[in-house]
Amino acid sequence: MKITVIGAGNVGATTACKLVEKDLANEVVLLDIVEGIPQGKALDLWESAPIEGFDTRCIGTNSYEETANSDIVVVTAGLPRKPGMSRDDLLEMNTEIVKNVSENIRNTSPEAIVIVVSNPLDVMTYVALKVTGFTAQRVFGMAGILDTARFRSFIALELGVSVRDISALVLGGHGDSMVPLPRFTTVSGVPLAAFMDQATIDRLIQRTRDGGAEIVKYLKTGSAYYAPAAAVVEMVESVVKDKNRVLPCSCFLQGEYGLEDVYVGVPARLGSQGVVEVIELELTAEEKEALHKSAEGVKNNIAKLKL
Ligand code: APR
Repeated sequence: MKITVIGAGNVGATTACKLVEKDLANEVVLLDIVEGIPQGKALDLWESAPIEGFDTRCIGTNSYEETANSDIVVVTAGLPRKPGMSRDDLLEMNTEIVKNVSENIRNTSPEAIVIVVSNPLDVMTYVALKVTGFTAQRVFGMAGILDTARFRSFIALELGVSVRDISALVLGGHGDSMVPLPRFTTVSGVPLAAFMDQATIDRLIQRTRDGGAEIVKYLKTGSAYYAPAAAVVEMVESVVKDKNRVLPCSCFLQGEYGLEDVYVGVPARLGSQGVVEVIELELTAEEKEALHKSAEGVKNNIAKLKL
């Protein structure tokens, strides 16, 4: 198992760190355009191996040759948000970056499964699909696990219970129009509404929607990376171990949920072949409308792409 992480910034380096510590691959390759950064971070990570006790070789490079024939490629290359920016403000710059990265993946790792993290997430995943020409099963994005984890973490704080007992679901695009679904949110199997009133649920939903911006406001020079990296690793693990976890991911829809030719967050079964199944839920009219509105926003940005 060879895993490449493109972009050795905050999200990329943290992802590489979590991957090697979980010993999920024989080799993790960290690639960036900036000379020295991936080499230095990869060497630093490798030097932690004797302490952490992992065997995954960690290599840093500026050349795609060293990433050749990767089984999985995680794309984190691109600019992060600054305070006041929406993810959509990154569209133009990050499209160019993700196009370049995708061409290189196509040429050097033609069999890879590609997990996109760069923002605006759903649109960048579409760019990766079109430029690599890979099947949609092999190209998907990380967002839903992060959005859901944020929702779960806020519920746990509110109730003073373990995050482990909270199960939740957030659908839709990774943006302000994401669709947290309290109907599918439980505390140890008991619906959330038994624990809090609607006003509290609404407040936590809003905090989830603003979750990324809340971090950007604190950091000022960049965006979140610990939780995003943890979310990527959960997806990678399901692929590497063929676990068939059911996880919310940005998937290419071809009729599911009445949507077509768009990436949007939905629950999916992830196995060794990538997205093995998009799980279609029965939504209420209101939930469906929110999902369609969110997908519309993604489609509008896709229409702006010059691929
Ligand atoms: N090829 C490879 N790496 C690139 C390229 C490229 N064409 N262009 C930029 N990079 C690298 C940068 O050199 C930098 O090291 O991508 C890295 C991005 O790192 P950070 O600036 O720390 O950004 P990060 O917080 O990791 O976020 C990366 O993920 O969550 C999203 O919105 C976020 O789009 C952003 C991406």
